[in-house]
Amino acid sequence: SLCPSIYYRPIKPNDLDRLEQIHRDIFPIKYESEFFQSVVNGVDIISWAAVDRSRPDGHCDELIGFVTAKFVLAKDSEIDDLIHYDSSKGEETLIYILTLGVVETYRNRGIARSLISEVIKYASGLSVCRGVYLHVIAHNNAAICLYKRLMFRCVRRLHGFYLIKRQHFDAFLFVYFINGS
Ligand code: ACO
Repeated sequence: SLCPSIYYRPIKPNDLDRLEQIHRDIFPIKYESEFFQSVVNGVDIISWAAVDRSRPDGHCDELIGFVTAKFVLAKDSEIDDLIHYDSSKGEETLIYILTLGVVETYRNRGIARSLISEVIKYASGLSVCRGVYLHVIAHNNAAICLYKRLMFRCVRRLHGFYLIKRQHFDAFLFVYFINGS
């Protein structure tokens, strides 16, 4: 890796303030405090944090990046038409990525790539999991390039999906298929 001191770990309760702050700083959308509570307590949400262990005392375990995700039943998802069902597998699921972010000073070092790889590795280990998917606002070139580079497939453009300050913005829906989907 480009950055040997970057370490990936689960998000925990004392990450709460920093997690909220980074979300406020880098996303145009406001997330509710219930969301952050679910993330740090691991309630229905799975997450990974990136920290830089080479930072001085007090900062070496502070979040510099994160990815949050949840399980969605494939049949209840908006991409259920794209999944090839296998009746022997039981209740098939997908992982939906809610948020992904890296603080500005740590960008372009492969941290987001590693965070997404953690999600894919985890999903691939679950035989019932058929893919990882997400929405991204249509003008977010950095994120779009990242998902394309990681072999996600853009399967849909959703008109007016996001409402930000009374303005509608399109979204792309990206999917990474796994386990034979
Ligand atoms: N321009 C073009 N391509 C880019 C850019 C960019 N600015 N940033 C990343 N990429 C692509 C490149 O292809 C890169 O691969 P390469 O280095 O082999 O060329 C690949 O993505 C991996 O880049 P990383 O270094 O892993 O990405 P980084 O750690 O800088 O994080 C991220 C990218 C998460 C998009 C960051 O810019 C960010 O936090 N932005 C603000 C928040 C955001 O937009 N989050 C995603 C929204 S979608 C969602 O949350 C579901």
